[in-house]
Amino acid sequence: MKMTAAVLYEQGLQRPYADSRPLRIESVDLDGPGEGEVLVKVEGAGLCHSDLSTIDNSRPRTLPTIPGHEGAGIVAELGAGIRDLKPGDHVVFVFVPSCGECRNCRRGRPNVCTRWPQLRARGELMTGGRRLSRDGTFIAHYSGISCFAEYAVVARSSLVKIDPAVPLVDAAMFGCAVQTGVGAAVNTAGVRPGDVVAVVGLGGVGLSCLLGARVAGAQRIIAVDLSDEKLGLARQLGATETFNAGDPACAKDIHEATGGGVDFAFEMAGSIKALALCLELLTRGGAVVTAGLPPAAATYALNHSSLVGDEKAIRGSYMGSCVPERDVPAFIELYKQGRLPIDRLKSGTLPLADINAGFDRLADVAAVRQIVTF
Ligand SMILES: NC(=O)c1ccc[n+]([C@@H]2O[C@H](COP(=O)([O-])OP(=O)(O)OC[C@H]3O[C@@H](n4cnc5c(N)ncnc54)[C@H](O)[C@@H]3O)[C@@H](O)[C@H]2O)c1
Ligand SMILES: [Zn+2]
Ligand SMILES: [Zn+2]
Repeated sequence: MKMTAAVLYEQGLQRPYADSRPLRIESVDLDGPGEGEVLVKVEGAGLCHSDLSTIDNSRPRTLPTIPGHEGAGIVAELGAGIRDLKPGDHVVFVFVPSCGECRNCRRGRPNVCTRWPQLRARGELMTGGRRLSRDGTFIAHYSGISCFAEYAVVARSSLVKIDPAVPLVDAAMFGCAVQTGVGAAVNTAGVRPGDVVAVVGLGGVGLSCLLGARVAGAQRIIAVDLSDEKLGLARQLGATETFNAGDPACAKDIHEATGGGVDFAFEMAGSIKALALCLELLTRGGAVVTAGLPPAAATYALNHSSLVGDEKAIRGSYMGSCVPERDVPAFIELYKQGRLPIDRLKSGTLPLADINAGFDRLADVAAVRQIVTF
């Protein structure tokens, strides 16, 4: 079938993107779903910083591609062998599909499926399929999803079925920001009542982490960003204190305020500076959990002796260590009860035609989650 999509041919074009238009709105070809695949009509697609890191060339990708990895939609057609979904079902896209057979998948850690990285790098689906093209030239699937488009063909494990009562524009954010942020707090860190936590970087991912820490019972939630506007939003969402990372006394002030540092510091900015700040914020025995994705070559030098002598930990968190089939419905239920007010992260909706301007706003820290609607 023919459909309209936002195609990226070149990374690293000059800003403003509204003028250089890295994402071209074009008609492309989408093949029907093969065995183990599903055709989904996309209803909402969120703009995440990881898409921006592709556009600005911080993180190289196979090109051309159709970005978009945070979304929700409605099942339109089933490929052979799909028995647990039907047309009309509402689904959230999962940006790490899983094979179900590798050692990690079998041990309950599908977010670190060992088969997926090679397929992802080739721009293929988990099934090995390639369904996107234009004038006979293959277009790479992005994280097995590519939802900056009217439709997507994805592998079954790229989807979780959800309650149709949830607006799909809000449901979209559960695909990336919510799984990543809430999951970092409740799964990777395992925040418990009484914990003192800091969240550094308050985009869709960091604010979701804040909400996750709150629902897990954190006693104090210290929100840190370079933007005072983000700090204000964080206070509305339950931060107990806020500090501006641009203030040279930030780490010292947080140590004073907490009487010695925090139990968990969440790096949610995607920057080495933020990672360094997080390590500075820890109390003895504390842990940094980082979900930020900095430029691919970025490295950090760690003080080995303090790591050991103060028993600190530093842990990456990919897709919030989520088991999507378990966690997405659980997080959706908390949202329905008003305990995870994810709708507050929504800065607005936009048509696909305005997506380049949307990425300008994300780069300018002038929006949290903007959702493309169709
Ligand atoms: N690990 C995962 O599974 C996963 C999933 C999604 C996104 N990510 C990554 O998470 C990061 C956040 O994504 P997002 O969409 O929320 O981004 P965003 O652009 O919406 O928000 C980033 C925030 O960090 C703040 N910031 C930047 N530098 C800072 C610093 N030095 N100190 C304090 N605050 C700082 C910015 O002001 C902004 O508010 C990105 O790196 C993204 O690629 C990771
Ligand atoms: Zn994302
Ligand atoms: Zn696997």
